[in-house]
Amino acid sequence: MLSSCPYWLPAEPRRVYPHLSARVEVDVAVVGAGIVGLTTALLLTSAGRRVAVIEARHVGTQVTGRSTAKVTSLHKLLYADLARRLGEDAARSYGEANQAGLRLISDFVKAHRLNCAFERQPAFTVCFDDANVDRIREEAEVAARLGLPARFTTQVPVPVPAKAGVCFDDQAQFHPYNYLAGLAEAVSEAGGLIVEETRVSDVEEGTPHVLSCPSGEVAAEHVVVATNLPFLDRGRFFTKAYPRHHVAAAARLDGAPGFDAMVINVEDPTRSVRWHRDEDGYVLIATGGAYRPGEDDPVMQAEALTEWLGAHFNVTRIESVWTNEDFDSMDGLPFIGTFPGGSETLLTATGFGAWGLTAGTAAASILADAILNRPSPWAGLFDASRTPPAASAGSFLSGNLQVGKEFVRDRLTPGDDRDPEDFKPGQGAVLQGNIAACREANGHLHRLDATCTHLGCVVTWNAVDGCWDCPCHGSRFDADGTVRFGPAVRPLASAGR
Ligand SMILES: Cc1cc2nc3c(=O)[nH]c(=O)nc-3n(C[C@H](O)[C@H](O)[C@H](O)COP(=O)(O)OP(=O)(O)OC[C@H]3O[C@@H](n4cnc5c(N)ncnc54)[C@H](O)[C@@H]3O)c2cc1C
Ligand code: FES
Repeated sequence: MLSSCPYWLPAEPRRVYPHLSARVEVDVAVVGAGIVGLTTALLLTSAGRRVAVIEARHVGTQVTGRSTAKVTSLHKLLYADLARRLGEDAARSYGEANQAGLRLISDFVKAHRLNCAFERQPAFTVCFDDANVDRIREEAEVAARLGLPARFTTQVPVPVPAKAGVCFDDQAQFHPYNYLAGLAEAVSEAGGLIVEETRVSDVEEGTPHVLSCPSGEVAAEHVVVATNLPFLDRGRFFTKAYPRHHVAAAARLDGAPGFDAMVINVEDPTRSVRWHRDEDGYVLIATGGAYRPGEDDPVMQAEALTEWLGAHFNVTRIESVWTNEDFDSMDGLPFIGTFPGGSETLLTATGFGAWGLTAGTAAASILADAILNRPSPWAGLFDASRTPPAASAGSFLSGNLQVGKEFVRDRLTPGDDRDPEDFKPGQGAVLQGNIAACREANGHLHRLDATCTHLGCVVTWNAVDGCWDCPCHGSRFDADGTVRFGPAVRPLASAGR
């Protein structure tokens, strides 16, 4: 049976850290053990700070561990657009910050001997349609002018129908889970505390701040909320960053891929591909078109992606398909720094637009610099308390209007009238009476209140991952209602029998 476990994630965590069971006092509490949280934690433990990382599930298993894991400053088409909207200095700073993120990852791999298949590769953004060649050419020209390792080419070394591409040389790919598991071990060896299966539900601001957890609390002078989208509603980042959902797949190849490059196209649907070598040979890791929970069927998107892979590459079998999400900010720049109107010692980073490996690493440097009272050349550009200019918000607003529509429509739609007793394993739906019912692969039937515990939208069944997705601000819940992914911090309520 096809697995919905992301290819990168092991059946059991490489190392299990304890959950929080007492009060802990540290200099810095980092909430979230993804790339932002663990990088921040390693920078700060290395600088002698007492750090605790508090992770709701397990190290590296959320957005980072479900990504394509291209480590590159080439973010589809972005630089020409940023230069046009925000000016060339802003676009240059974005590129420099991301190149610095790439260098820091490479340095960590060497310094901590991280066994994570880090390999240098060129990154290509290509077009399949002649009509987009000029956009590709413009991106290459602007990026080269900004000092990035960019060039235009019509020779794309990947067997996809590319008309042209912008190439950034000397980028990289890695195994994201192994990288993060290695970072966590480095944090732990440097004296940092890591706790898992401990969801932080609130932060009481003060001196120190106090983090509420189910079975203990953490007191800290500084808090870094590195939970992808902040789980704290103060700052209202859920109104400034909008979730994007994609399907992803791992496809086993017959032999070597025959190319050394990572590629993504500009058209819709997106096809983003890189290879990875494991003990059984080579796999392609790919992401596909975006889907909106409740609007589009991720199963159909996954089928379209795997068919496309089969048509262009020597695929012998699909090993797994899964879904992932990240957040697009209003102006295309991540938010990094202090919460708007909050204390100087409560910080966050979000809105990576599906390019948070270099950007998330750069974010961690900015956050660590802020905590260590060191200047950062990029802090101003990404200031988390900025209000993005209205002119930059066109596509974002249409996304946010969609959130309003979801909310109203979900409240009015009567729901499915099937009997959940008839559901087969893997099936789920929102039924009449606002009941979210699903049958797990093991046969267990769940009946839950379909109301998202964040702000009350109605969840929808994700048949690829066997979980409940909230269309409004990206929360996800396991089949049994447990929070898988915030901003929600409370499980879906039981709907009884
Ligand atoms: C399909 C897809 C493909 C992508 N591919 C790439 C790529 O190739 N290259 C690239 O640069 N970027 C890529 N990205 C984006 C990139 O993966 C993300 O931007 C980045 O991983 C975000 O890292 P993070 O640390 O913010 O989040 P995460 O890795 O999700 O870490 C956040 C952690 O916080 C924990 N957490 C959440 N709430 C709480 C709480 N209340 N208490 C305690 N812990 C909590 C979570 O469990 C999680 O472990 C992709 C994104 C998608 C959707
Ligand atoms: S994530 Fe905000 S309402 Fe569900």
